[in-house]
Amino acid sequence: MGALQDFHRRSIHERDAFWTEQSKLIHWNKPFAQVLDYSRPPFARWFVGGETNLCHNAIDRHLEARAGQKALVWISTEVDKTVEYTYGQLHAEVQRTAAMMQSLGVGRGDRVIIYMPMIPEAAFAMLACARIGAIHSVVFGGFAAASLAARIDDARPKLMITADGGSRMGKAVLYKSLVDESIKLAKFPPGKVLIFKRGLDARMPVVAGRDVDWAELAPKHLGAQVPCAWLESNEPSYILYTSGTTGRPKGVQRDVGGHAVSLAASMKYIYCGNAGETMFTTSDIGWVVGHSYIIYAPLIAGMTTIMYEGVPIRPDAGVWWKIVQDYKVSVMFSAPTAIRVLKKHDPAYLKKYDVSSLRHLFLAGEPLDEPTHVWIQTELGRPVIDHYWQTESGWPILSAMPGVEKTHVKFGSPSFPCYGYDLKLLREADASDAGPDEKAVVVVVPPLPPGNLATVWGDDERFVKTYFNTFSKKLVYATFDWGIRDKDGYYFILGRTDDVINVAGHRLGTREIEEAVNMHSNIAECAVVGVADALKGQMPLAFAVAKDPSRLGTPEGRKAFEKEIMDTVDKQLGAIGRPKAVHFVTLLPKTRSGKTLRRAIQALAEGRDPGDLTTIEDPGALQQLKSALAGG
Ligand code: PRX
Repeated sequence: MGALQDFHRRSIHERDAFWTEQSKLIHWNKPFAQVLDYSRPPFARWFVGGETNLCHNAIDRHLEARAGQKALVWISTEVDKTVEYTYGQLHAEVQRTAAMMQSLGVGRGDRVIIYMPMIPEAAFAMLACARIGAIHSVVFGGFAAASLAARIDDARPKLMITADGGSRMGKAVLYKSLVDESIKLAKFPPGKVLIFKRGLDARMPVVAGRDVDWAELAPKHLGAQVPCAWLESNEPSYILYTSGTTGRPKGVQRDVGGHAVSLAASMKYIYCGNAGETMFTTSDIGWVVGHSYIIYAPLIAGMTTIMYEGVPIRPDAGVWWKIVQDYKVSVMFSAPTAIRVLKKHDPAYLKKYDVSSLRHLFLAGEPLDEPTHVWIQTELGRPVIDHYWQTESGWPILSAMPGVEKTHVKFGSPSFPCYGYDLKLLREADASDAGPDEKAVVVVVPPLPPGNLATVWGDDERFVKTYFNTFSKKLVYATFDWGIRDKDGYYFILGRTDDVINVAGHRLGTREIEEAVNMHSNIAECAVVGVADALKGQMPLAFAVAKDPSRLGTPEGRKAFEKEIMDTVDKQLGAIGRPKAVHFVTLLPKTRSGKTLRRAIQALAEGRDPGDLTTIEDPGALQQLKSALAGG
């Protein structure tokens, strides 16, 4: 048996011993009494009774050996600035931020919403929450006020932390004014808003009594010493909202101990990042990849982490490779979309810098097409690993694991199930096991391994209903992805089984976009589907029925209406959800029981066979769809 197979077998069949061994990768203030409590399936409680702290493991634990080593390097090509923080300095900044938060009434178990651009203060805020046992919920800066308001009402934060603005392609993007708008819409607004001013919004409004200026509060807490709160392993560390089948995002709740152990183990076995080396993850802190692999995991591993504010092609398409050279990056993590963007630029940029320090480039978040995989590996001359996971899992589900055994990488495949995951491919019809090369649903036999979501914030029932109800006969966790396994055991991911789409690596629910479109006063109903896009992977496409069709008689009228709908989506959800186009029809294809035939619409929009359509109520709807797509 190969080392990898044996490693995986032990993780499932000698589970307690396996995870006890991994638990030693982090510091425990008090040892756990039980490795796993699985007395209430499918809820898994890991390292029960153990006490630890994410911030201690990310910072304090390293002070003795590496206080002077760089911990966080912030590089902004937006405002042309680089700032480096050693572990010692990061320790001081995080304690100060923790003291500031405490002075605003934040304590253990309180929620803090962080709506910030990619600046060091966002990292300080996350780590400060972890330090005092407050629960952070970072919301991606691309989400609009209404989306932010929905998250405020679900998390009910005591405090929100924001900045006056961010910057994209050299243009200011306002954050604070959007926060103000979201607070007006929210039923459960925070008492305080802490604002880091970057000088990007000269006219930023201030709400007296509620708004607090970071620059005024910070000097009062200079040199603050705030001890880490020792948390029971299963206390919540953070909430991160993610899209699903319904229009209402789910709050993925992460624990403390399992999270820390799973990240530490992933650095050793998957990413091969060692203390003293540098990791560069090009994501955003608003997404799970940013949480796990910009902030927590590299620091837990004693590495230097690079936090990058900017795009991959400014000032030119070599900027990331220059960073790799300058900081001797050994582990890099990015997304296929970014690589497809780089592919449109001169490949000479990949040869211009010395990237020999790079052990591997990892890619995830969306399918990595074979041509892109081949291109980047050839041009870069370094191994490129496709790996697969989800917001829910917090760390990889499928990957090559060069830290365990070096295996051949097949283009287009994220390789094998990671340790801890009892992964299966089940037939949709009867939950039986699929054979080699047979398309089926990717599921995990519970208990989910450490680090995976503990529940949906405030809604245990939704956790069970959403993730464990796909098959009536088998209690399994559904990933909502289709997959196949070839005869050599390699997995291939073929896309989602639900209405989730992936736009440039950003996960969005088509129902969320539909709800945003429906906010336009002249929309009767609509259907949004994801269609393949050469650059972004997928793009939303909308089909809408107008209440009053009088404006649709002229091309100008249609264009103006389409633009209004796009603006509505920008305002409700954010520009990341904006449809590529809006097609107007007078009816949508539905079954006799009134269900919109989304899969058929998607197939037609992608020029594929829509399959069996005998259940359709009115075939005229299909004809309309086809002529709309043909530009008629
Ligand atoms: O459909 C899968 C796709 O992205 C989804 C998860 O997205 P998110 O929650 O944003 O987490 C991303 C963490 C990396 C999955 O259900 N996905 C992710 N990685 C891959 C992928 N699809 C194909 N290949 C991948 N490597």
